[in-house]
Amino acid sequence: MLPMFVADGIDEPKGISSMPGVVQHTRDSLRSAAADAVAAGVGGLMVFGVPREQDKDPAGSAGTDSDGILNLALRDLAKDLGDATVLMADTCLDEFTDHGHCGVLDERGRVDNDATLHRYVDLAVAQAESGAHVVSPSGMMDGQVGAIRDGLDEAGYSDVAILAYAAKFASAFYGPFREAVASSLSGDRRTYQQEPGNAREALREVQLDLDEGADIVMVKPALGYLDVLAAAAEISPVPVAAYQVSGEYAMICAAAANNWIDERAAALESLTSIRRAGADFVLTYWAAEAAGWLA
Ligand code: PBG
Repeated sequence: MLPMFVADGIDEPKGISSMPGVVQHTRDSLRSAAADAVAAGVGGLMVFGVPREQDKDPAGSAGTDSDGILNLALRDLAKDLGDATVLMADTCLDEFTDHGHCGVLDERGRVDNDATLHRYVDLAVAQAESGAHVVSPSGMMDGQVGAIRDGLDEAGYSDVAILAYAAKFASAFYGPFREAVASSLSGDRRTYQQEPGNAREALREVQLDLDEGADIVMVKPALGYLDVLAAAAEISPVPVAAYQVSGEYAMICAAAANNWIDERAAALESLTSIRRAGADFVLTYWAAEAAGWLA
């Protein structure tokens, strides 16, 4: 599955320096790149929105606005592609908040878990209305899957599935992504993402998401967490996904650019390892290339 970025307020695709070959798309360039990726044989698209700086606010309003960049882009793709691919949306606030956190903050500046759940429901419903087949809560708030499931059902979207970022670690390997979405974050996400040393807690998170009705559970990052992935695959009655994140991609690209490593071979080996560990599918920035390599 291919993660893609669409940005508001740009006239042409904008390269992401730490992720060679990956860009922030305009609405138009996203449409053609998405069509190309689907033609190449990717299993689905995961779309992230990047609002204009001046549209960011403490509540992440641009994410729930039906005319916000992500919702507009989802409508474009739903219209262009119909059921030719699986259209997935990142269901999180961090791209849209001026403080860059995945949730709204309380008066002391801490992420307010329960207040955030209401915002996630609104995000998910807006994305479903815009044509997403799958919503993907990636903010690691407790109770997010259950709240979104109830909210979607009440709004008449019982067919929209939930890909839960179930075990998402507070990782240094998200570095390049922060550039990709022009993140406003200062600080870290260690109060809501998982501690890298704690595999048991990660499995509890997977179990909680399963109990709340997740249709797919995901482990992220991938390569450093293959043990967690294998353990999740062992207990999960639903498909298990893995996200080969921006830093994993950037490292291989950077080494390949120095001729220290063969990009295609290293990419395929890492994807094979992720699959071997138990992933039913993989989010990777090489998705379109890999579809060609494997054809
Ligand atoms: C948060 C989100 C992040 C990524 C996907 N969703 C960043 C974070 O948690 O800090 C990272 C993806 C990547 O690094 O490729 N909405």
